[in-house]
Amino acid sequence: MARRRNNARASRSLALSAILVIFAFCAGYAAAEANTPHSMFSYTDPSKWATLQKDWAVCGSGTEQSPIDITKVEVSTDLGPLEHTYKASAGTMQNRGHDFMLNFEGGNGKLTIQKKEYTLQQVHWHAPAEHTINGTRFDAEMNMVHEDPSKARAVVSVLFSTKADRPSKLLSDLGQYFKRLAGKENAEEEVKDRVDPAKWIDKASGYYRYEGSLTTPPCTEGVIWTIMSKVADASKEQADLFKSVSKTPETDARPVQKINNRVVRYYKGVETS
Ligand SMILES: *[C@@H]1O[C@H](CO)[C@@H](O)[C@H](O)[C@H]1NC(C)=O
Repeated sequence: MARRRNNARASRSLALSAILVIFAFCAGYAAAEANTPHSMFSYTDPSKWATLQKDWAVCGSGTEQSPIDITKVEVSTDLGPLEHTYKASAGTMQNRGHDFMLNFEGGNGKLTIQKKEYTLQQVHWHAPAEHTINGTRFDAEMNMVHEDPSKARAVVSVLFSTKADRPSKLLSDLGQYFKRLAGKENAEEEVKDRVDPAKWIDKASGYYRYEGSLTTPPCTEGVIWTIMSKVADASKEQADLFKSVSKTPETDARPVQKINNRVVRYYKGVETS
């Protein structure tokens, strides 16, 4: 009798261990996907990414890849102003090798798209911009990466132009971190002053919406992209800071990908200029 109870207990705890192992594996996998070490790929030849790792094949075979050149758009009346609840929070700035990333541990606020809520996880910058507008490539692009509980992603993107050489307030506020972490791969620093992403998005701006992918390996698809149509100002010095992320200054923009049969929708916004 006692032994049978022990056996039952043993098999229950075995089942529990198995569940824990599977759970840990899945959690580890999700974390690994979001944190691919940048030393594993380079921008010398992004067309090779698909061949570097077995689970990066979609970088080559995918039909809904990002970035894209935004040309033909469909004005959409059912898209509205961006709904978000970003708040001033502290974070950690990290030099990932090819870019700087501001990570919000535990997330920042939420972005709502078609009643689904995505939590802002991290923000990183590319120079020059990855998305182009009618063939025009701007000087930098900020990607705000959100995830929902099932790990579905939504990215909000702001393009920066250095044409007027006018500094961006947001990039000035973070400039000291970019400067101190320049050339120091994997170094990180706590951003103690609370930064407020709500101030980075002009709610009156229109935006382009399409379905694409992560622009770095593993190039996972199913990402809802929102590219703000109002281009922000930055100084030339600020755009150059992004290129100083690695010891040998480099650019980190993946070439534009085929649009195939995707549609880019456009929300006009209430821009006055
Ligand atoms: C690109 O240019 C064409 C032709 O001028 C125009 O119809 C279209 O709206 C432009 N696209 C964007 C995204 O500005």
